[in-house]
Amino acid sequence: MQNEPLLSVKNLTVDLLTAKSALRPVDGVSYAIRQGQCLAIVGESGSGKTVMNFAPLGLMPTGVATNLSGSVRFEGQELIGLSEPEVRKLRGKSIGFIFQDPMSALNPVRRIGRQIAEMAELHLNMSPRAAEARALDLVKLVGISDPAARLSQYPHELSGGLRQRIVIAIALAGEPKLLIADEPTTALDVTVQAQILRLLKDLQQRLNMAMVLITHDMGVVAGAADNIVVMYAARAAECGPVDKVLVNPRHPYTRGLINAIPRRDDPIGSEFRGLPGVPPTLGAPIQGCAFAPRCEFAVAACTRARPPMVPTADSNVCVACPVVNQGKAAA
Ligand SMILES: Nc1ncnc2c1ncn2[C@@H]1O[C@H](COP(=O)(O)OP(=O)(O)OP(=O)(O)O)[C@@H](O)[C@H]1O
Ligand SMILES: [Mg+2]
Repeated sequence: MQNEPLLSVKNLTVDLLTAKSALRPVDGVSYAIRQGQCLAIVGESGSGKTVMNFAPLGLMPTGVATNLSGSVRFEGQELIGLSEPEVRKLRGKSIGFIFQDPMSALNPVRRIGRQIAEMAELHLNMSPRAAEARALDLVKLVGISDPAARLSQYPHELSGGLRQRIVIAIALAGEPKLLIADEPTTALDVTVQAQILRLLKDLQQRLNMAMVLITHDMGVVAGAADNIVVMYAARAAECGPVDKVLVNPRHPYTRGLINAIPRRDDPIGSEFRGLPGVPPTLGAPIQGCAFAPRCEFAVAACTRARPPMVPTADSNVCVACPVVNQGKAAA
């Protein structure tokens, strides 16, 4: 279907079964992303951002049994239920990814050029010679000076920013239509963070890729994303176009996140405006809205039943909050 989003996630639930416990880090989350668009996923640590993106691609650590339900469609193909060889065909080719830990993507004892070329050989069926030329092009594409010399270096010979550029080059080697970038700048210092984000945004637009950008940083969201999903304790609290959600956040959690951003006119030495309280422990039963215990607007209805996602009058914004949605029908 021509109008179908590139990636469409509906009611995705992920259960993790470890030797000791059964956990549900993703609980009924829906979102979509179109070709050429950037979707930001934000939320506190442990809210399920990484698991919801990587579990459907079979990228969970070994030793954890993963059970998925709902639907994850990529280019019209359902990913849930695909065999491992079928998912492997997509991973790194149609869907590129950048992990939270940049060093885990690089092999410390192999030259950079070989690592990039291998990806091109694997995903684009290139000969070793053609793949080497592609590696050179990719290193140029990610803005590295003296690219030919860099190809013969090892990861430890590069600065953090250069290493992250190489990680991006590897992620792009298969010419992905979707790039999932999981906190791609967390390990970098502030000035380099800005450069890497600018590079990612520029590449996303130039290559007309879709990008899922997982981040803690609302400033990053404002600068890079078209749409946003705000996660809280395994569920989506609010989603919609960035310009609407950041300017007029409805869910009290989204408001708290935005309010916590330090402002230019804050007096020096003023206290951080953090959210009071802590998120619920994963595995503990949640009655009603997971945010209710920390919410200054909570009413009795908030603890009665799980709040559904409901479209607001701004049709593309949806909010899961009984107080905001009083009298409105669920999405
Ligand atoms: N392999 C695993 N085994 C057991 N629990 C896990 C595993 N991976 C993730 N979890 C749990 O699932 C929950 C969601 O984890 P996830 O890594 O998706 O959070 P996140 O939102 O990406 O957090 P952060 O911002 O810190 O990266 C967490 O409570 C985490 O402890
Ligand atoms: Mg994470």
